[in-house]
Parts: sequence; C-alpha cells; structure tokens
Amino acid sequence: MGVDEPMGDGPVDRFEIAARPQPVVPPPAAPVLQLSADDDQSARVAEAERLAGSAMTLDALAAAQEAFDGIELKKGARNFCFADGNPKARVLILGEAPGDEEDRQGRPFVGRAGQLLDRMFDAIGLSRQSVDAEKALYITNVLTWRPPGNRDPQPDEIAMSLPFVRRHIELAAPDLIVLMGNIACDAAIGRRGILRLRGNWATAFGRPALPMTHPAYLLRNPPAKREAWADLLSLSARLEGSS
Ligand code: URA
Repeated sequence: MGVDEPMGDGPVDRFEIAARPQPVVPPPAAPVLQLSADDDQSARVAEAERLAGSAMTLDALAAAQEAFDGIELKKGARNFCFADGNPKARVLILGEAPGDEEDRQGRPFVGRAGQLLDRMFDAIGLSRQSVDAEKALYITNVLTWRPPGNRDPQPDEIAMSLPFVRRHIELAAPDLIVLMGNIACDAAIGRRGILRLRGNWATAFGRPALPMTHPAYLLRNPPAKREAWADLLSLSARLEGSS
C-alpha cells in the first residue's frame, strides 16, 4: 500500500478532535495611549487652533505662535518670522515661507524676491513703510519658520500653520488679500496652478483675494512681469473702487 512509517501508536478520530471546544486565545492587549501619526497630527492642529483662537491681539498671536512647539521646523530655524509692515494696511500679502535672508532677519520678504516685491507695490503707491493705512502693506507668510534648504512646505506644516494664519488675518482685518504663489493659494483657497489662478479674484478667509505669481518666479521669468503688472493694476482699481 506504500505505507512504510507509522505516525502514531493508535488510530486517531479527527472528527472528534475537530468537535472539541478550542481554547480562546485572548487578543493582544491594546497599547496604552499610543497615538497614530494621524492622531498626533490632529492633536497638534487642535492645539494650534486653541492657541490661535485665544489670542486677542496680533502681539498675543505672535507670542502664542512662536511658543507653539507642534511644528518641527521650529527646531531648525534661526528666527521666528511673523510679519512686516503696517498691520492697519488695507492690503495684506500672504507669501509662502521664510527663505535664508528672512530666517536671518526674522522678517518676511527681505531677500531678493522681497526687494522685487517692494518695487512692484511701490509702482502702485503701496509700501510696507507707510504709516498711512491707505498706502500701506502688511506682509506675512503661510509658514513662520524656514523649511530646510528652502524646500516646499509640507501639507502637515501648512495644516498646523493655518489656524494661526486665519486668526492673523481676522485680527489684521485687511480689505484685500494678495495670495503670492502656489503655496499661499493652496493654504487659502485650496487650489494650486498659479498661472491659471493669477489675476482672477477669489474669496479667502471671507475677504476678496487676488492670486499673483510669486516675485521669486518673476525673477526667473522676467517676461511674466507683464501679467504681474496687470494684476497690480487690478488690485489698485479694486482699492480705489472700494475706498
Ligand atoms: N518667499 C516668500 O514667500 N516669503 C518670504 O518671506 C520670502 C520669500
């Protein structure tokens, strides 16, 4: 029959074994207080919302945002970069994130792109130095800490910064917002594609907002300054129309 090796001494009733009650193996104990990456991220955003919501002035908001440890970028940055210009300005510019020079000085848009930004807005009579709210600019960024190597801000970094940006804009209460480049558009209106968005008025944080190409892009693509000029004229006309 081909059987040359017995496996046991007696016959085995496999039907009887299958019918026996099986031991109940308890599931492994749930780890105590172990947060998933998503829970951790939600907790940080909730903390950012709590801190931002309890700030009643721009100074209090700056202090709360600077103290917030939820964002890892803080560890690698040299300076906190909150805002520059006149907080009473009718126009608020929302940029992306500090670069090297901004990180050094703790002020947004002070490098080469910032110098071009100043010249662009000077051309329509607006400046961050103006004490007159009608002619002033107030400038801030989506991120207040420099991303290493000037890489793009990551979605989790934007999500953690957004409660502060929202409150920042509520407290500054500008009439109009300029969204400088893709990151600002992503954070404020949930859209990218600045070459299609630019020049088309949108609503961000409950206010009229104009997407524009970032001055760093204009430095690399000087012919695009023609469209940027058209956008500046649109901004100027809107200011005059609603003053
Ligand atoms: N680019 C930005 O978007 N913001 C800055 O502050 C500097 C460069």
